[in-house]
Amino acid sequence: MHNGKILIVDDDPFVREFLSEILSDKGSYEVDVAVDGLEGLEKIGRQDYDVVFTDLCMPRLNGFEFLREVKRLEPVLPVVVITGFSTIENAVNAMREGASDFIEKPFQVDKVVSLAERLVNQKRLLGGLTSKKRYRLSLETLNAQLFKTLQEISTLHTVSTELDNLYDNSDIYRRVVEMALKLLPVREALFGIIDGNRLKIKSSIGVPNFRDEIEFRGSYIERVVKSRTHLVVKPGEFNPVDNSRITSPILCIPININGETIGILNLSNKPDGSSFTDDEIHLALNFVQKVGLRLENNALYETVYSNLINTLKSLVAIIEARDPYTKQHSERVTLYSLEIAEMIGLSNEEKEVLKFGGYLHDIGKIGVRDTILLKPGRLTPEEMAEVRLHPLIGDRIVQPVQFLEKERELILYHHERIDGRGYPYGLKGEEIPFVVRILSVADAYDAMTSSRAYRPAKPHEVAIEEIKYGVNTQFDKEVVKAFLNTETGKGRKKKRKISVD
Ligand SMILES: [Fe+2]
Repeated sequence: MHNGKILIVDDDPFVREFLSEILSDKGSYEVDVAVDGLEGLEKIGRQDYDVVFTDLCMPRLNGFEFLREVKRLEPVLPVVVITGFSTIENAVNAMREGASDFIEKPFQVDKVVSLAERLVNQKRLLGGLTSKKRYRLSLETLNAQLFKTLQEISTLHTVSTELDNLYDNSDIYRRVVEMALKLLPVREALFGIIDGNRLKIKSSIGVPNFRDEIEFRGSYIERVVKSRTHLVVKPGEFNPVDNSRITSPILCIPININGETIGILNLSNKPDGSSFTDDEIHLALNFVQKVGLRLENNALYETVYSNLINTLKSLVAIIEARDPYTKQHSERVTLYSLEIAEMIGLSNEEKEVLKFGGYLHDIGKIGVRDTILLKPGRLTPEEMAEVRLHPLIGDRIVQPVQFLEKERELILYHHERIDGRGYPYGLKGEEIPFVVRILSVADAYDAMTSSRAYRPAKPHEVAIEEIKYGVNTQFDKEVVKAFLNTETGKGRKKKRKISVD
């Protein structure tokens, strides 16, 4: 006697086989398979099933179309979508289309079996909607289950989106415990990074008396780190976090990157004092896996980013080496821009843009001929036109690098003027992004106070007068005002080399 009848729809034979095995062996279900949505629909038309598991990407009829059709034909037949972890967004959409739940690859046997059990029961409850009394009861149970599932998935989705926007590991360290508390019914969360045999606590909520650095040898933390799998630690065991005995169960989850445990997340103290359910553990593991992926991505991004920065920096150094007069011009422009940004109180994000974009703003000069760039006398109109191409050339150089979008604006617009008489587009006033208006003042000041092939450097006072004169024509009023209050603007700073690392 089997527990119910399940249909698995997937074009991947391994998934079909693996799920069939789990459900028939561990769950004692009768299992049928279909290779795509069309075959799935045919089978549903001919036979009664209790639950359907379906892939989303399939030939002929994809998972979403299949789901819609099933819901039309058999509104009460529960459908579970099979998804990869990275496509959780799809799972959310599928839930909106009427899917009952989702499972992720790699499959967790217990989760698959308990989900099938829950949904088969749900189908039976719905099947028993004949008597009025049972109708009410069934509906209430279903509503409660549905509400819980929807709540979990929407919280996980919110948290995932939030994590995706954290590019700084220190932000992740700080936020991870807050997010964990949103996700699970616990009062305490503690997150730490492994350093040899020690755990360095990076953030915590609700955990009393913990120490910042913990020696964890011989404790449950060591077991988690060595096995690289989670553990529910029972009350009574020694806790190195506060040097005492554990009073309520702790769910200790390792954060694994490239097969190595780099940290742990402890969750504990459920308000009802109970231990962790399979669903809660699954949700927490999902979340921690996402945290691990985010940290891994950040590390990767940093490596790629710093390689790229170094390459572009060398390119700028090559350009500046061609012209002894503009040596370190970009570094100084960046320094002055940051001084202004600081004075105005720009966000860290905007300062980052200036920090790198300032360095790159003249990168397009690599495309201007030496004979023109180094010409001691006045430029002819044709030569001038060539020089004026450098913002466009620079823009083309960095265009393929997607994450330099804001920096590109500095490269492209740094010769625009407030009155619209600049180049290459003749943008006016607020059409020019604010960070660009900052760079434009810094650039002009450095150009005037540096010697050029065709003229000596102007004294600080003269440069300042010219900048004041350019307010509302060449320069932004607010930016100039801020610049005049910086150390450089006040003439208190000697020109110096800076580092933009
Ligand atoms: Fe320029």
